[in-house]
Amino acid sequence: MIDEKPFLSALRREKLPVPPIWLMRQAGRYLPEYREIRAKATSFLDFCYSPASAAEVTLQPIRRFGFDAAILFSDILVIPDALGQKVSFESGAGPRLDPIEQPEQLAQLKAAIDLERLAPVFEAIDRVKGALPAQTAFIGFCGAPWTVASYMIAGQGTPDQAPARLFAYRHPEAFAKLIALLTEASVAYLTRQIDAGVEVIQIFDSWAGVLPTHEFENWVFAPLREIVSRVKRQRPGTPIIAFVRGAGTHLTQLVEGLGADAYGLETAADPVWAARETAGRATLQGNLDPLALVAGGAALDREIDAILTAFADHPHIFNLGHGILPQTPIAHVERLVERVRGAKG
Ligand code: CP3
Repeated sequence: MIDEKPFLSALRREKLPVPPIWLMRQAGRYLPEYREIRAKATSFLDFCYSPASAAEVTLQPIRRFGFDAAILFSDILVIPDALGQKVSFESGAGPRLDPIEQPEQLAQLKAAIDLERLAPVFEAIDRVKGALPAQTAFIGFCGAPWTVASYMIAGQGTPDQAPARLFAYRHPEAFAKLIALLTEASVAYLTRQIDAGVEVIQIFDSWAGVLPTHEFENWVFAPLREIVSRVKRQRPGTPIIAFVRGAGTHLTQLVEGLGADAYGLETAADPVWAARETAGRATLQGNLDPLALVAGGAALDREIDAILTAFADHPHIFNLGHGILPQTPIAHVERLVERVRGAKG
């Protein structure tokens, strides 16, 4: 279809002359207009649950840069919040949850996600969908069970998610129950986001890269496959992007068996290898180093061009290899968009 949104065409594995572009964490602290609204909120979660504010900051990067997709402003930790775990965000220190140290503590969680608590998220979706330019796609998201569980167990960010890895080795049955609970919660939450108006889903498995193969199979691959197949069965036609950060050579297994439409590549993934390995079987998304975007100049141009060249014959969505950093200069983001759109247009 000639008038389809470029982002949706790319997700149908069309090879476009100019790849669509958006950036993970594109609504965030590198934008002064974000910081201004954020400063007025009492807490980060209140901010996420304020439909007017969440909708406004979702739209900010679209107005400024004209990205091909907007991503709902929210956080992956609203799922633990809606399961009854105490979640807060301390400025400068990141998320804080009451850690789950023993299997018995899992009984304190709700048996199913409380979607009522997330009603403001669905209202924000409704507001955004009416305000987006016609060519801009709208992405909803959740965290993958493994990544969300890793925060629920540690109670905070850690360098290697050691607490959750230890918990899974010591208490595999209890951990499997937590993963199953999160899998159910994710399916319910994502289908509700689709009903509210998002057109594409991205699942963030930001911590997949710390697991050995057997654990990757149990806690990353199997639950993701279940979520993808159930969401696809319940809401056919909604494309899904899996960002399995640190998948490395597991990319082949993902493309062959996960059933998503696109796969996000982390910064360290070799785009030439990834394009060859997946040979037109899935769209690939990524994978500019967020630090190259901070640095700018010749290094940024070189990295952008290397990615464009690597994906020249492959369905591709331009993005970063991980979230944009707060210290990123706005002029560098402008440069990136110009260079990607100017390269082959
Ligand atoms: O991409 C977007 O613009 C949409 C919004 C979004 C946020 N978090 C807003 C946010 C999305 C998609 C996320 C995903 C998320 N949240 C992930 C997966 C992606 C990734 O980066 O790996 C993870 C692991 C989280 C958990 C989380 N939330 C952490 C670890 C932190 C603290 C670190 C940090 O970047 O500050 C957050 C807070 C958070 N989530 C902020 C934003 C804009 C910053 C908080 C603030 O503005 O005060």
